[in-house]
Amino acid sequence: MIDSLHKLAKYRYECGNYSVSTSYLYFCMLVLPPNDKNYLSSLWGKFASEILVQNWDSALEDLNKLREYIDSSPNQFGGNSLQLLQQRTWLIHWSLFVFFNHAMGRELIIEMFLYRPHYLNAIQTMCPHILRYLATAVIINRGRRSALKDLVKVIQQESYTYRDPITEFLEHLYVNFDFDGARQKLHECQTVLFNDFFPYILFR
Ligand SMILES: *[C@@H]1O[C@H](CO)[C@@H](O)[C@H](O)[C@H]1NC(C)=O
Repeated sequence: MIDSLHKLAKYRYECGNYSVSTSYLYFCMLVLPPNDKNYLSSLWGKFASEILVQNWDSALEDLNKLREYIDSSPNQFGGNSLQLLQQRTWLIHWSLFVFFNHAMGRELIIEMFLYRPHYLNAIQTMCPHILRYLATAVIINRGRRSALKDLVKVIQQESYTYRDPITEFLEHLYVNFDFDGARQKLHECQTVLFNDFFPYILFR
């Protein structure tokens, strides 16, 4: 019956009724043991559905569950590091919806992307463009000055593979002490921020 409920949840998801799939998958998650073949896909499905109905508290809970599952060992990836990296990369991308909408998001994105080495590593090898979002969160989070220092180090390390006006702004300001350059980049940041889906959420 749980197999059928899982199938039905996917069907309702594909029809666009995400609130129904969140409740079906909620029941799947209650009874499925972590080693079940449908466990991970139920968790991903629930996470995606909670995002799509904009239920940010539940989405955050599912994000944490997914991360714990992916990071726990043994898990079903059984040491397949490429699959692990892919799962982490997907999680990093989907989590942006949560981090830019949840009230705690700009704090939590720093914890996960900057201070969890597996995730920082995934960003550096698979998706350095994510640095833009981490940088945005660090800049607007005034309580985290030490994070700024750590972030600038990463931006410097990655500057040969990735740069954009936001990372360049930080480089000018904190590495080169080039304030005219920083002012110029700040100007470009304005265009970037208003045309990028995630930071734009913060200015609505
Ligand atoms: C989703 O399905 C439920 C139960 O079948 C229904 O009551 C609800 O109206 C549906 N919502 C949408 C957006 O179609």
